Amino acid sequence: MSLQVSYREKHTNGVSATTKAVILVGGSSRGTRFRPLSLDVPKPLFDVAGHPILWHCLAAVQKVPSIHEVYLIGYYDESVFRDFIKDAASEFPNLSIKYLREYQALGTAGGLYHFRDAILKGRPERLFVLNSDVCCSFPLNEMLKMFTEKDAEAVILGTRVSEEAASNFGCIVSDNHTRRVLHYVEKPEGHISNLINCGVYLFSTDAIFPSIRSAIKRRTDRPSRLMSYPSSDNLMESSFVEYDNDDETEKNEVIRLEQDILSDMADSKQFFVYETKDFWRQIKTAGSAVPANALYLQQAWQNGSTQLAPAGPNIIQPVFIHHTAHVDPTAKLGPNVSIGPRATVGAGARIKESIVLEDAEIKHDACVLYSIIGWNSRVGSWSRVEGSPTPVANHSTTIVKNGVKVQSITILGKECGVGDEVRVQNCICLPFKELKRDVANEVIM
Ligand code: GTP
Repeated sequence: MSLQVSYREKHTNGVSATTKAVILVGGSSRGTRFRPLSLDVPKPLFDVAGHPILWHCLAAVQKVPSIHEVYLIGYYDESVFRDFIKDAASEFPNLSIKYLREYQALGTAGGLYHFRDAILKGRPERLFVLNSDVCCSFPLNEMLKMFTEKDAEAVILGTRVSEEAASNFGCIVSDNHTRRVLHYVEKPEGHISNLINCGVYLFSTDAIFPSIRSAIKRRTDRPSRLMSYPSSDNLMESSFVEYDNDDETEKNEVIRLEQDILSDMADSKQFFVYETKDFWRQIKTAGSAVPANALYLQQAWQNGSTQLAPAGPNIIQPVFIHHTAHVDPTAKLGPNVSIGPRATVGAGARIKESIVLEDAEIKHDACVLYSIIGWNSRVGSWSRVEGSPTPVANHSTTIVKNGVKVQSITILGKECGVGDEVRVQNCICLPFKELKRDVANEVIM
């Protein structure tokens, strides 16, 4: 039983408590599975369904009325998110968005703890933490409702996956009736549950920071792994220092929510799981941007978004076409296609389940299926660039073809060229390559 004053005792309706949000964006050493696309743009800023991946997280956060402050925490250079934050500030005027930079990767919990002074400023009682590399409907208000009703200290978003897929994720064993989390195991060796961690959490600030502090204390039993760790004070604005970083965290190492915190919380805390029946996918490999694009486009379509291309004889909804792109009216697009700024699509072209990035050119009568066409790339006339469909429930972007594992999505990196009448199937093509002959199931370096 928790000793802290119950949330309900402090607030009768749950609306008056302040909530903040953190979005974990990682850094340049992460997102390696997103290559070749992450060679040219940091993964959180890659466009799916017409907006950066991170934008979709912010769009969800702004629907929670009690959130006014959001921190992006990562270890990319400050300049990386500057323009994005400027644009987002006008698009999401109710949110103050700040980037807090870790001096090195501190882990999914280490970064939170390092910046606790900033996060706790204004004494928020609840903190959402979102992994930026997930694509889902982010049912944050529903999580908040459960948090209040259960007088919770933590709520995790969970979803059901197939038994075979489950062990690739954090697995949650919960009480079917109360939804209380009984056990949490990150990527278990055997099967324990098909209810998995979606990478979206709501914590009481009174619970999460002491939990991380305990995890750090446990680490002090293994002094040989400790590394020197400068104070956050010199990395942050002076207004943040009213909270005292008094303890052993000046020496630290990577602390991860998944491995170091959640299983411990299941033992001792008011920890519950909110199970979503809605869509959820991770965005890890470059190919996973294609299903994420499809899911966000379908969501926009269901919500009646005016940003989608209007219906037409050659549009199979949902399709996003940037207003600066030029698509010949005889080209047939969709479903689940995004066409980026200044891209051109020629007469008679066919594009389905694909992303065409900025300044790319698809020439007349070309066919692009289950693919990503990189920035400034050119696809020749009568050529065919294609991947393979995979079942929605399949959380993988590889398929087995003739007994060999290959990429289900074809990806052309930046400034690639595909010659006229050339066929490219299930390939990953690094930037600046010219494909003049048919190629299948290859990584072209
Ligand atoms: P695996 O899935 O285990 O291969 O690692 P990953 O780095 O691809 O993802 P992980 O599940 O560990 O990370 C979840 C989210 O946290 C992603 O959005 C990462 O970008 C982010 N993240 C991971 N490590 C760090 C870190 O050290 N600091 C910060 N700020 N974010 C991180």
